[in-house]
Amino acid sequence: MRILVINGPNLNLLGEREPGVYGAGTYAELTAGITAFSKEIEVLADCVQHNGEGEIIGCLHAAKGEYDGVVINPGAYTHYSYAIRDAIAAVGLPAVEVHISNVAKREDFRRISVTAPVCLGQISGLGFYGYHAAIRYLKGVAHRD
Ligand code: DQA
Repeated sequence: MRILVINGPNLNLLGEREPGVYGAGTYAELTAGITAFSKEIEVLADCVQHNGEGEIIGCLHAAKGEYDGVVINPGAYTHYSYAIRDAIAAVGLPAVEVHISNVAKREDFRRISVTAPVCLGQISGLGFYGYHAAIRYLKGVAHRD
């Protein structure tokens, strides 16, 4: 079973970016943790990070037929990218949206997710663990024929 983990804009700056909000862990540490956890539960997880909307959409298109599920943290695109929302819907892969911070506790604009309605669900505020929970969940729902 293969899962694609997509991180959006500014998540490459984890560790140095607002550590009070996102924690001290770096993007490299995030992906190392995802790889180790996935291995434990016999899932193959590939991690990608892109700052551009078009690159994220390209990744989603390419995931069709290659992966059994998607974990996506669209970063700020969460709040306004109808294009990413449409791409998630178009490929039809089971997807879980993850946010490291608790978006419900922050500015009002972060409470709106235009992408969550086309995902199975949203995990927010559990730090890096949210990605593990999403992968664990997808393992239960997505099966390759
Ligand atoms: C984020 C929350 C978004 O509102 C923000 O724009 C991000 C990160 C999170 O993981 O908590 O870039 O998606």
